[in-house]
Amino acid sequence: LAEIDVDVSQVAEGQSITAKWRGKPIFIRHRTAKEVEEAKAVDLGDLKDPVARNANLPADAPATDTNRATGGGAQPAGGEGAGAGEGMSQSREQWLVMVGVCTHLGCIPLGQSGPYDGWFCPCHGSAYDTAGRIRQGPAPENMAIPPYAFTTDTNIRIG
Ligand code: FES
Repeated sequence: LAEIDVDVSQVAEGQSITAKWRGKPIFIRHRTAKEVEEAKAVDLGDLKDPVARNANLPADAPATDTNRATGGGAQPAGGEGAGAGEGMSQSREQWLVMVGVCTHLGCIPLGQSGPYDGWFCPCHGSAYDTAGRIRQGPAPENMAIPPYAFTTDTNIRIG
């Protein structure tokens, strides 16, 4: 399917679900405040992959936490799209929507594990942080953010 809708109304803070899009797992995580804080506190100079890998943003967008947790049509102030319709001023930084495939050789990382409290790939030991950014191990890139947008407060359209 080119596009899927995922209802996240039942996904409480600290929980994740996995959807399937184009044959790939999509991790949708309702991050805790602590996870968001941890991700924001990271010095961008410490990142192995400095770009956001977010299909909703320009290819050279830096890998800030905000840029990792931004979908289409809901840009925070300062980006384009300010003043878009209902609900758009509301921050959704707690939601991380990401292709759950390790950028090394394509294994599926385990959630909420590893030294950076994010994801850990058991195949060869790549560790990702709470924004899905590669921090340690052989994987070269942050996990990809697919095209997505909130169509309502509780529905995410992926694709
Ligand atoms: Fe994930 Fe190799 S496939 S570390």
